[in-house]
Amino acid sequence: MQTLKDNGKIIHNRRICDAAELYDMLIESPEIAKAAKPGQIVHIMCGEGTTLRRPISICETVGDCVRLCYEVRGKGTKWMAERREGDLVSLLGPLGNGFTVKDGERALLVGGGIGIYPLLSIGKACGSAKAAFGFRNVSLVNSLDLFESNGIATSIITDDGSSGRKGFVTELVKDALANNEADVVYVCGPRGMMAAVAAICEEAGVRCEVSMEERMGCGVGACLACVCKTTFKDNRGVTGEKYKRVCVDGPVFDSKEIIWK
Ligand SMILES: Cc1cc2nc3c(=O)[nH]c(=O)nc-3n(C[C@H](O)[C@H](O)[C@H](O)COP(=O)(O)OP(=O)(O)OC[C@H]3O[C@@H](n4cnc5c(N)ncnc54)[C@H](O)[C@@H]3O)c2cc1C
Ligand code: FES
Repeated sequence: MQTLKDNGKIIHNRRICDAAELYDMLIESPEIAKAAKPGQIVHIMCGEGTTLRRPISICETVGDCVRLCYEVRGKGTKWMAERREGDLVSLLGPLGNGFTVKDGERALLVGGGIGIYPLLSIGKACGSAKAAFGFRNVSLVNSLDLFESNGIATSIITDDGSSGRKGFVTELVKDALANNEADVVYVCGPRGMMAAVAAICEEAGVRCEVSMEERMGCGVGACLACVCKTTFKDNRGVTGEKYKRVCVDGPVFDSKEIIWK
C-alpha cells in the first residue's frame, strides 16, 4: 500500500458531462497503478481545509496511471474538480478487496449513474462482459465509449425513455438472466438498485457481487465509520449478523452477505 504524500501527478482532469458535474481525472501514480485490482479504491487528500480523505473507486489503470471518474458532491470533490494538469495529489491505496474474477464466467456489469465507473476495470478483466446501465435521462448518459472501446457492449435504460429503453436497470438484468446471458453479475449504484439486482440474481441462481458505498473516515479499518450489516455462518452452521468495514472487508461483497434493510 502506498502512503507517500503527493504520490500522484494529474495528467488530465476533464469535465465529461454538461448536465452534471462529472469529471474524468487521470493520475500518474505507478505504484498504485501496478498494484490495483478491479473494484479497489483510492483515498484522496482533498486540500488543506479537508481533514478526511475522500474514497473514489479506481475506474481503470492505464499504464502508470489510474483513472478516477467522480461527481462533485461537496467540498472535497469540488477541490478535486479544481485541480489542473501537472498538479500533485496524495493518494492512499489501492484499498479494499476488489471483485472476484473466475475463469470462463460471462459477466454482466450493472451500473446506475456514477456507479458505472468502478465496473470498467472488472469488465476489462473478464474474458466476456456486457453492460446494462441505468441513467435518469439522456443528458446524464456518459462514458459509454470507455466500455465500448474495450469490447464491452452496453445496453442503456433511462427513467424517462430519453435514451434506450424506458424504465429501470433491473428490467435489463431480468431480461439478460432470462436469456442465460451471464454467469456472474457485478453491480454498483444506489443501494436500492443494488438490493433489487441482488434479489433478481438470487432468484435466478446467478452469482452477484456488489460494490458498497458508505461514508468513510480512516480508510484503513481503524475507525469503524464505514460499516455495513452482513450475515455470517460459523463453522457449526449457525447464522448471525455482523458489521463489516467497507474500506478493508469491501467495498465488494457477495450480494448474499449484505443485509439490505
Ligand atoms: C467505496 C466508495 C467508492 C466511491 N467511489 C466513487 C467514485 O468512483 N466516484 C464518485 O463520484 N464518488 C465515489 N464515492 C463517493 C465519494 O466518496 C463521495 O461523493 C465524496 O466522498 C464526497 O466528498 P465531498 O467532500 O465532495 O462531499 P461532502 O461535503 O463530504 O458530502 C456532500 C454530500 O454527499 C454525501 N456523501 C458524501 N460521501 C458519501 C458517501 N460515501 N455515500 C453517500 N453519500 C455521501 C454527504 O452526505 C453530503 O450530502 C465513493 C464512495 C465510497 C465509499
Ligand atoms: S473508514 Fe475507518 S474503518 Fe473504514
